[in-house]
Order: sequence, then structure tokens, then C-alpha cells
Amino acid sequence: MSVNPDKMDLPPRGELFDFHGVSMTHYFTDNWENVQNFQARPDDILIATYPKAGTTWVSYILDLLYFGQTALERQTSIPVYERVPFLELTPPDSASGTDLVNNLPTSPRLIKTHLPVQLVPKSFWEQNCRMVYVARNAKDNMVSFFHFDSMNMMEPEPGDWNNFFQRFLDGKMVFGSWYDHVNGWWKKKQTYSKLHYMFYEDLIEDTGREIDKLCCFLGLSPSAEEKKQILACVQFDNMKNNNMANYSTFPSMDFKISPFMRKGKVGDWKKHFTVAQNEEFDEDYKKKMKDPTLQFRTEI
Ligand code: A3P
Repeated sequence: MSVNPDKMDLPPRGELFDFHGVSMTHYFTDNWENVQNFQARPDDILIATYPKAGTTWVSYILDLLYFGQTALERQTSIPVYERVPFLELTPPDSASGTDLVNNLPTSPRLIKTHLPVQLVPKSFWEQNCRMVYVARNAKDNMVSFFHFDSMNMMEPEPGDWNNFFQRFLDGKMVFGSWYDHVNGWWKKKQTYSKLHYMFYEDLIEDTGREIDKLCCFLGLSPSAEEKKQILACVQFDNMKNNNMANYSTFPSMDFKISPFMRKGKVGDWKKHFTVAQNEEFDEDYKKKMKDPTLQFRTEI
């Protein structure tokens, strides 16, 4: 068997298994006791998403809103995945998400999670923490996830597109079903007032408007100049070219297969779905998405 020297240090791909009714891989469950017992602080801000919904974009926006005016060194030397640690991640050879969060020197602490709402550690609710949930339409979310699983060696083998499409509909993805995830968090919003639910499509349509809404939720009032700077920094091309935002320094990703900052568009699914797949998807979607108050846009 020949070995590709570029890939020799890459971790083995995770295998899916059922974890409290949700498909997971060991990379997100190995540290479960510490995740479950994680002690949140009242000013912690949890950024929650289904994978590939725009987590990094919103994480970077929040980081700039809170810390963009502080030490320049932070902006030039600390990648976003360290500024906003991924709570449940346990990478093979580096610190766990809980350790990274516990070592954060900042206040507030910005914390990323992909957990479905029912698995979020209870101290976040007890401490009444603010939470920002970002949702993305299922079709583009699926396409983005497919390319991500192809290039991130910690993810399960994506298989071919047809196979991946079926798995997505069946909810056999890391962090479970998209349908359950977006609905679960949406339902939570009805009873938990400190949850801001936002949509990737709205961010694409008018990033400034969505930042204003975020600021209103967080009680922040950046100056017009600051806001202008943030808007420029978080544009797709600028993030794609920014090594602190584009994951180019993250070990398990193979950018020769696909970049992390791939297209950043609404409607890319049209280049992937066949007509038959689109019909099957729409039919299945109607059965699973019964709540008329939760609406997604697959084009803008
Ligand atoms: P695509 O694969 O469709 O390009 P996450 O951070 O949750 O993993 O989501 C990644 C997706 O968000 C990718 O989608 C990525 O390109 C997109 N994204 C990240 N930053 C963005 C930005 N500034 N503008 C638009 N899309 C962005």
C-alpha cells in the first residue's frame, strides 16, 4: 500500500455511532464527562449551530465586536478556532475544547458548539447565558457539509454525493439530523428569552442589518467606524484570505481537496442536486418541517 506523505500525520476518520439518540463520532464524545459538567459563567456567550451553517462567520463577527479594538496581536496571531473554542471537540493531539475554554483569558468567553439543544450542558441554562443560534437552509447546508467531510479527515468518510444526500435525509450525520437540530433550537427560543436565532441567508442578504440585530441582543453599541471595519473584515473574500479566519492552520483539513471557506453563497445546491433529488428532498422536507413559523430561503 502506498502512503501519501502529506497525509501521514492526519487523524483517522471518525465512525458514526448512536449517542443519546444522535449520530456522533468519538471526537465529540470522548470528553463527555467534562462537557456535561462544564461550568458556564453568566457572561459566557454560546454560539450554537448545525455544522456548516456559518459558525465561523458569526464567531468572527462576535470576536471583532468584543475584542476587535483590543491588542492587534490577537487579530494577527490567534486563529478563530482558539479565540472561540469548540466546546465538545477532543482532537487527537491537542487540548480539548473544555480545556481551551477554561483557559480563555477573555471576558466574556465566546464558546462554539454544534450540540443539539437537548445535549447542551445544563450550566449554560442555569447561568442564563446568552446564546446565538445560526441556521442555514438544508440544501446549501448539505452541500457545504459534503465538501467539508471530504476535506476534513476527522469527519466520517462522505462517500459519493448520492450516498451523502440519502444520509443527510436520514439524519445520519455528525451531530444528527439537520431537521431535529434547527427545530429543537427554534422551539427552545419560545421559552428561553436569551436566545438569538439567526439565518445564514439573512447574513448574506444584509450583513450590516444582522450585525445591528446582534448588537441589540448583546447590548453592544459599536461606533459607525468600528462597524464599518468589522463589516469589511467579515466579508467572504477577506475572511478567505485571512489565515486567522480561514482554518488554513488547522491540522486535520486537506485544502487540496476543498478550502474551508469554499463558496459562501446561497443557492449553490442547484449545482449539486439532480432534478430527481430536488423532488425527493422537497417531498421529504414537507413531512419533516411541520412548524409554519420556521421558514428557510433556498435562494435570495
Ligand atoms: P460553503 O461551504 O457553502 O462555502 P461553518 O463555519 O459553520 O463551518 O460554515 C462554513 C460555511 O460558511 C462555508 O460555506 C463557508 O464558506 C461559509 N462562510 C464562512 N464565512 C463566510 C462569510 N464571511 N461569508 C459568507 N459565507 C461564509
